[in-house]
Amino acid sequence: MSHLATKLLEDPYQGYAYGYPHKTAYRPLEPAIPLQPHWEKEDLSSLFFYLHIPFCEMRCGFCNLFTTTHPNEGLVSAYLNTVARQMQTMSDMLDTPRFAQAAFGGGTPSFLSLSELETLFKNISKHFGPFEKGTPISFETSPSTVEPEKLAFLKEAGVTRLSIGVQSFLLEETKALGRPQKPETLHHALEIIAKTNFPVFNIDLIYGTQGQTPETWQSSLEQAVSYHPQELFLYPLYVRPLTGLGKKERLPSDLRPELYKQARDFLLSKGYEQISMRLFRHREASVPQNQGPIHCCQEDGMIGFGAGARSYTHDLHYSSEYAVGRSGIMEILKHYTESSDEAFKVADYGCLLTKDDHHRRYLIKSILRKGGLIHQDYQNEFGHPIAQDFGSEITQLIDCGLATNNSYHLHLTAEGFAYSDLIGPWLFSSNITGRMEQYELV
Ligand SMILES: C[S@@+](CC[C@H](N)C(=O)[O-])C[C@H]1O[C@@H](n2cnc3c(N)ncnc32)[C@H](O)[C@@H]1O
Ligand code: SF4
Repeated sequence: MSHLATKLLEDPYQGYAYGYPHKTAYRPLEPAIPLQPHWEKEDLSSLFFYLHIPFCEMRCGFCNLFTTTHPNEGLVSAYLNTVARQMQTMSDMLDTPRFAQAAFGGGTPSFLSLSELETLFKNISKHFGPFEKGTPISFETSPSTVEPEKLAFLKEAGVTRLSIGVQSFLLEETKALGRPQKPETLHHALEIIAKTNFPVFNIDLIYGTQGQTPETWQSSLEQAVSYHPQELFLYPLYVRPLTGLGKKERLPSDLRPELYKQARDFLLSKGYEQISMRLFRHREASVPQNQGPIHCCQEDGMIGFGAGARSYTHDLHYSSEYAVGRSGIMEILKHYTESSDEAFKVADYGCLLTKDDHHRRYLIKSILRKGGLIHQDYQNEFGHPIAQDFGSEITQLIDCGLATNNSYHLHLTAEGFAYSDLIGPWLFSSNITGRMEQYELV
């Protein structure tokens, strides 16, 4: 691992460490690993339910998520039928799982029609029972797929957080992002969401687009805040291989650090608190918490349904294969829809975690958020103090002014949050970094 002080001379935008190990560290598992013994060992009382919908109305120039556009109806219904089969297989395999949290992501889950959404929720209830009242359930939308009937249904179905990708309120900027988006469509969608009144409404914005200035960024921030979202996710632009922007060799602007600080200070002044480098939450927002078990992202399992979804047991992280190019994605979707029920009983692509990976995952997932890493929790989880595993890293973070440490917790400073996308990857093991570097994207 390189010295942090040297690392700080490099680009601070090394990667978004929202999960560890990163999916580009996954590999074919040969032979495939039977899932039942792994899930049998898990505590099934506070799982995370994730469902991936890999469809969108357009492929945005910046986006490398696992998704495709203009699927024919046959593909969408075959996909949803396969998700239902996968749920059936998992519910047969697991002894009364309880979901403490759920998310519908993509792609764009609101790409589905109202009747497809109704069938999907019916199938979830059929296989796992309805989500318990108050379970935090998040659902992603895009401006042109928001319709009042769909949102009314989702609210009724228990969705507690509706998220919309806005990226920018300026047509010129969304054009530069490869996502031309009519302001009328955008404002109309935001009005419908605001009226439907979900407990949590989230807006995603991107900063660092070429041509964006502090003034245009301020305009987007002010327009976003005028809709009173409880949460805002601010993403620094990354230009990734095989995306529309990547193929045109468009780079993010040099203004990202400055735009980040501008947005942070503005949102703090508007009553938001900073939860992570990207997430800001209004201080008065009451974010639904499950009355029953609370999912703990450092420790608890996640079951992902659909192609592109990841699943986590304690030792095994797995998913379908991953691609960004259209032909690679279509091949994976074909493989998924043609999978036998037996295929859902094994993991054939993923990563087995070592003890060291567990320590790193815990540290990364804790330290990049407000509140940081609580020493007693780490001790309870692993039976020894964090300093035993990461003494040198902690000293370096403190010496560089990026973290502070006391007897209760280790947490990032304001400057540390700004360097989250460097600190996260810096904490990856050399084995995982090596695997990520060797990954060949299709
Ligand atoms: C699943 S998408 C959001 C939902 C919906 N599909 C939409 O686009 O409106 C998740 C978010 O990740 C962010 N994002 C995706 N790729 C990005 C990139 N290369 N750079 C910065 N942000 C990115 C965008 O803000 C996007 O809204
Ligand atoms: S940003 Fe959203 S709408 Fe655009 S391609 Fe990605 S997932 Fe689809």
